[in-house]
Amino acid sequence: MDLFTPLSGLAGELCRPRTVGGAAGPADGGSDAEGEREVGIKRKGSYNPVKSKRAKEVSEGNESQPIYLPEGLEAVLDGVHQNGESDFDPVQALASTRHEFGEHGGVNMSVENSTTFTVMKPETMEKIFKGQLGPENGGTDGFYLYSRHFNPTVMVFSRQMAAMEGTESAYCTASGMAAIACSVLQAVKTGEHVVASNRLYGGTFALFHDLLPRMAGIHTTFVDIVDTGKVREALHSTGAKVLFLETMSNPTLVVPDLPVLAAMAHERGAKVIVDNTFAPLVVSPARFGADVVIHSLTKFISGGSDVIAGVVCSSAAFIQELMDLHMGTLMLLGATMNPAVASQLSGRLPHLALRMREHCHRAQVFAERLADLGMRVVYPGLKSHSQHEILARLRNRGYGWGGLLGLDLGSLDAANKLLDYLQNNSQFGLMAVSLGYHDTLMSCSGGSTSSEIPPDAQEEAGLSPGYVRVSVGFTGALEQRWEQLHKALLDLKLIPGQ
Ligand SMILES: Cc1ncc(COP(=O)(O)O)c(C=O)c1O
Repeated sequence: MDLFTPLSGLAGELCRPRTVGGAAGPADGGSDAEGEREVGIKRKGSYNPVKSKRAKEVSEGNESQPIYLPEGLEAVLDGVHQNGESDFDPVQALASTRHEFGEHGGVNMSVENSTTFTVMKPETMEKIFKGQLGPENGGTDGFYLYSRHFNPTVMVFSRQMAAMEGTESAYCTASGMAAIACSVLQAVKTGEHVVASNRLYGGTFALFHDLLPRMAGIHTTFVDIVDTGKVREALHSTGAKVLFLETMSNPTLVVPDLPVLAAMAHERGAKVIVDNTFAPLVVSPARFGADVVIHSLTKFISGGSDVIAGVVCSSAAFIQELMDLHMGTLMLLGATMNPAVASQLSGRLPHLALRMREHCHRAQVFAERLADLGMRVVYPGLKSHSQHEILARLRNRGYGWGGLLGLDLGSLDAANKLLDYLQNNSQFGLMAVSLGYHDTLMSCSGGSTSSEIPPDAQEEAGLSPGYVRVSVGFTGALEQRWEQLHKALLDLKLIPGQ
């Protein structure tokens, strides 16, 4: 039925596109949640005949189509929050989410690049702004307000991220820092306190140490995150609302005992926020008590070093809080993700596991060989690593022990010589910050990504001036890369006893 067709010759029938998908997730298609549906918005026969046909097949009870009616997130979540006793597998969880087709039956989802969305009745808009109608009711084509709030394409990618992390919900952000800042500001009010790991990415350290006290009146106590007694004491003495830590610390690769720390924090009523940027797939922090899991998607999850992005994975209630029209930090500080980025990153998730396995495999081989040479190498996959046993308990099987290794050359001068040689003489890798790229990226952390941390705090955190962080890439052949690295160490006489 044409309701409103001033441009009908051009635009055709006014209708919402049909959604096809599984039963799970916030927006399973089909419920006529609003009166609008009764006055003739057609949900099939629209410009998406392929989708409509598939939806019909599903609704007619063709049970042999698991791709359209997958088990869904609820089934995945059955295996979550059991303190590591479950056999949760992030890749299987991801494969169980609804597959979103594009319009015209495209194998990839379409990008909804609209910043704003139509309603068919004026009252609907009011209901959307009151939160009575939203993206979660009315199907995938639900009720959207404005793309700084929820956007359909970003919703789909966020649902994939939630499945991968085993959380109830998620929403994507413009950067990893946006995910951290918005989550913390949402969970902690002016005058309240945070307890944070003393081993954090420099930008996160600066946020807690410099910006939040001055701009928001939120103070942070930094503690040695491997000393659980100190963490307990800090939680107790400060009455902190949040415990913040990294699954695998940047750049020192320390692995805190998350289940123990989360239990302590929960005992004191604090939320646990975990930055899982260094260990996607390798560890699923929500299984061990993390209330909020954030990622800088800029790193491994993107894999291309061409997108800045982040995500907050948490309960549906927390994600709704972030989007509240009056008090939502994500909505009001405006750091939501662009839908084009969501589409781009969604296309990279299917091969994240392949990439992670290779990053981790090569990091493990190089770390073992460097250790055999007597080099001071830091890698959680080595038995000599102080938290090897902890990671053995936490990690998901089959993805490895992380894609980064640390190499302590003893002095800044030696570190700089090695980096220069490895990039400019041997093509082993690139002198650049960041991580998770297909080529190897190397930086001397003290003067770069940890430069916000004062020298004495760097020392306390076990970061020496000659420490080189290596994000191990997977281009070229493994033996070719090892030869380049080994030759550099030999030529520069950096191997002990040489
Ligand atoms: C562990 C960690 N968390 C968060 C961030 C911030 O992410 P983004 O650069 O995407 O804002 C970084 C950046 O290097 C990081 O290494």
